[in-house]
Amino acid sequence: MRDDKTAAETRGLDRKAIAARKAAREATAPGWPEAESRMPETARRRMEEYLLQSEERLRIQYRYIPVPTLTWRRKGDDFIVADYNIAMEELTDGMIGEHLGARASVVFKKRPDILADFRKCYTEKRVVRRETPYRLFTNRKRKHIAFTYAYVPPDLVLVHLDDITPRKEAEEALLQSRRELRRLSARLLAAAEQERKRMARDLHDSIGQHLSAIKFNAESILGLLSEGREEQATRSIRAGIPVIRQTIEEVRRIIMDLRPTILDDLGIIATISWFCREFQQIYGHIQVERKIALAEEDVPAELKIVIYRLLQEGLNNVAKHSGARLVRISLGKDRQAIRLAIADDGRGFDPAARPGRNVRTGGIGLVGMRERTEFSGGRLRIVSAPGRGTRIAAAWPLTPASTPTPTPTPPSPGAGTPTPTPPSPGAGAGPRVQRRG
Ligand SMILES: Nc1ncnc2c1ncn2[C@@H]1O[C@H](COP(=O)(O)OP(=O)(O)O)[C@@H](O)[C@H]1O
Ligand SMILES: [Mg+2]
Repeated sequence: MRDDKTAAETRGLDRKAIAARKAAREATAPGWPEAESRMPETARRRMEEYLLQSEERLRIQYRYIPVPTLTWRRKGDDFIVADYNIAMEELTDGMIGEHLGARASVVFKKRPDILADFRKCYTEKRVVRRETPYRLFTNRKRKHIAFTYAYVPPDLVLVHLDDITPRKEAEEALLQSRRELRRLSARLLAAAEQERKRMARDLHDSIGQHLSAIKFNAESILGLLSEGREEQATRSIRAGIPVIRQTIEEVRRIIMDLRPTILDDLGIIATISWFCREFQQIYGHIQVERKIALAEEDVPAELKIVIYRLLQEGLNNVAKHSGARLVRISLGKDRQAIRLAIADDGRGFDPAARPGRNVRTGGIGLVGMRERTEFSGGRLRIVSAPGRGTRIAAAWPLTPASTPTPTPTPPSPGAGTPTPTPPSPGAGAGPRVQRRG
């Protein structure tokens, strides 16, 4: 005790405080029954005051710490709710008050893991922690809680609840988007593979056959020449020229399918005009109205191919499914976004009832249209109902600086137009929109 006093004095503590402390220590020290009788009356009063103040301070701290805290008191084999703080009231929408005195064995009847934590904390006198999904026993709200149990002698267990629901939700959203990404990249790979198959079939069916015919023709010409039948050989060469021309056209068509060179050479506006003209030529019974209300440089480079693919698929669908007489195409820009719309007056359909995953037979389909739009930072809306026509609207929001920065488009799945039509000499290397039937 002498040591204490010296240490305290060197720390410059107030003499009164030292006295009060000393008195308190003596009073509470076990096995010193005579301490009280030895203590002067004034010292004892001061000590009591000091203890009261310190208890009050603790109580206020408990009440106002921003961590929801619940105090459980040991009762028989069980624990009961003995106290709680303001943060706990807030977490439970004030309903904790109705549960004062509630038993742990009842509250956590279905959570033996939590009951086990109580016991472990109490018997081993140590801090126990657990993160767990938890439905609050007060307002039944579903949460994710990090519990910390602390033993407070002689018979209390203090439980801090940290509501980590937002963090867990963010983690879950992250996982979800990772799963989504994996799913999408698997789909992309599958689509790319599908596309290669289609290309291979295309090359085999058209170019392959044409080249075989040309080779056969060349061989027969050689035969004719070796027999000195020059006139007939000349006729054969002439007859072979249309096949060669068809082959050239077919190659151009395939290249256009892969990526229309006009898009890179002349831009999206010229490509749309050209595509509409071609469409009009093939589907004379469908009137095409076109409204372009922006300049070439308003459209970010990465968006051009996306717009072209949407138009390709949209117009093919109009030709294939709608029975429309009029289709309106508009591409424009306002303060918020670049907008593309394809609207027809055809028979329409129920977008909700549409089978989600039909086997693709060419084009990119509605699903592909949506994916392409979203990949490039936009949104796609399909408005349709039986008998009410169809409107497909894509919008790519502009950034505040009014320069759209869509994410780059992924390697094109379904890079092609639907099933090719047989080459028609003279039709030029137009977009192959599908013929009906
Ligand atoms: N413009 C349209 N008018 C009427 N029905 C349409 C239109 N566009 C799409 N549909 C309907 O939606 C379905 C799915 O279209 P899509 O995904 O492009 O696949 P596909 O063209 O290969 O059938 C079509 O089979 C058709 O029933
Ligand atoms: Mg389609």
